[in-house]
Amino acid sequence: MDIHSQKILILDFGSQYTQLIARRVREARVYCEIHPYNAPVSFLRSYSPTGIILSGGPSSVYDKDAPAIDRGIFSLGVPVLGICYGMQLIARLFGGRVARSRKREYGPAVISVSDSGGIFHGLGKTPLKVWMSHGDRVIRLPKGFRVTAKSKNSIAAMKDSKGEIFGVQFHPEVAHTPLGRKIIENFLFKIAKCSPTWTMGSFIESAVSDIRKKVGGGKVVCGISGGVDSSVAAALVHRAVGKNLTCIFVDNGVLRKGEADRVYSTLKKNFRMRIKKVDASARFFKRLKGVTDPERKRKLIGNEFIRVFDEEAKGIKGVGFLAQGTLYPDVIESVSLKGPSATIKSHHNVGGLLKGMRLKLIEPLRELFKDEVRELGRELGMSEELIGRHPFPGPGLAIRIIGEVTPGRCAVLREADAIVLDEIKKSGLYTEMWQAFAVLLPVKTVGVMGDLRTYENVVAVRAVTSVDGMTADWARLPYDVLKNISARVINEVKGVNRVVYDISSKPPSTIEWE
Ligand code: XMP
Repeated sequence: MDIHSQKILILDFGSQYTQLIARRVREARVYCEIHPYNAPVSFLRSYSPTGIILSGGPSSVYDKDAPAIDRGIFSLGVPVLGICYGMQLIARLFGGRVARSRKREYGPAVISVSDSGGIFHGLGKTPLKVWMSHGDRVIRLPKGFRVTAKSKNSIAAMKDSKGEIFGVQFHPEVAHTPLGRKIIENFLFKIAKCSPTWTMGSFIESAVSDIRKKVGGGKVVCGISGGVDSSVAAALVHRAVGKNLTCIFVDNGVLRKGEADRVYSTLKKNFRMRIKKVDASARFFKRLKGVTDPERKRKLIGNEFIRVFDEEAKGIKGVGFLAQGTLYPDVIESVSLKGPSATIKSHHNVGGLLKGMRLKLIEPLRELFKDEVRELGRELGMSEELIGRHPFPGPGLAIRIIGEVTPGRCAVLREADAIVLDEIKKSGLYTEMWQAFAVLLPVKTVGVMGDLRTYENVVAVRAVTSVDGMTADWARLPYDVLKNISARVINEVKGVNRVVYDISSKPPSTIEWE
């Protein structure tokens, strides 16, 4: 079965919620992709979507350079749902009127629905709680359209007489619209007639067959960082080509306690993968000697990783392909308000490297979101412990040691960090955190142990909650958990006599200290 035979196209007008729309569609088990609003109609036609969703966006349809759509999309003969700005665009394009507003309607609202079909199928005619976030609003519908829901301040939803074009002023994709999921599902299943075929089981089948077709009898190399993405990518490629895959796992010396062994033995024993483990820690520490600037640390570690990987890969005969764990959010050409630099890219990205080897890239996760990668990992039989782990930065503990990174300071941080994680796991809060870790500060303070005065290091504990790492809040860890962490770190880690808790949110702070 072709898992892409039915697909929804999401045209992005720059809304902060565009990726959420895609998440909701995928959760309904329908494949979708996000493309910029100005994708040419010829592309849209060749893409042959089952339905189209126009996202919201920060513009006003009256702005001089307001993003617009080609009218041609309405001749593709597929249903269209416009959300917020998307609805205003449709209204204006078909001759309705949009009122410019200086004030935003932002927050919860209640709408009364006057349609029992279409996107409101099964939702009755009762008032619905929705989330609004808009400035302009539609005040007169185009000919051939009718109102299907109203709020106190605006026309909340509309549809055309053929039941093919729909618009909502509110945001069904956000959690604050409790029945939003149902509204999106109605569009997918009742209107666009999709079927829920996008499952990780079917994805594996199709990905394995694609990889086999591409690779033939060739050899593949894959860099393992210890992170979830590269491990899952390797497991998937391994399912497709078995022994023709060789993974290279570089231990850079700045991994967490026991991490190198854990990842290596899981992939080696449970998956029987061919893995070359390289202990390159001495090389990394040599490079890092005397370096205190965070960005320099990042660059040095990134470059050294590539160098080691390069040397090892060249030692494998007849390699033709390089597998990477690139994810969909890195691929989307979103119309981003924040600009491309707002996304932090993994420093383990080795694409385009290995000069002279001319390797072809295999990126089997490039259609997937992070939580789909986790689901895929489970489906491939990876342990919860491996795939449920917190994100860990490429430069590892090096950017959590403020000041110079030495093997000694790294050992202190590694022990403290292991205790932080252990206590948080024991408290049952691990899965509720985005990240939790220790940071070693370049500060010594006075303490007293027994009868002796000490003059030792300070460790800061950082625990944050977040949805995507772009914004984060410090976790309200119970005092008892903090107490246990502090007592154990000070008692068990030689060289630490003080523990502090970081209570900064992002923004204005960042998650990592460097
Ligand atoms: P910040 O510190 O910018 O971090 O709030 C946001 C997320 O990105 C991770 N991070 C990195 N990941 N290489 C990586 O692979 C890096 O250099 C890097 N810096 C930050 C961080 O752990 C958090 O999840």
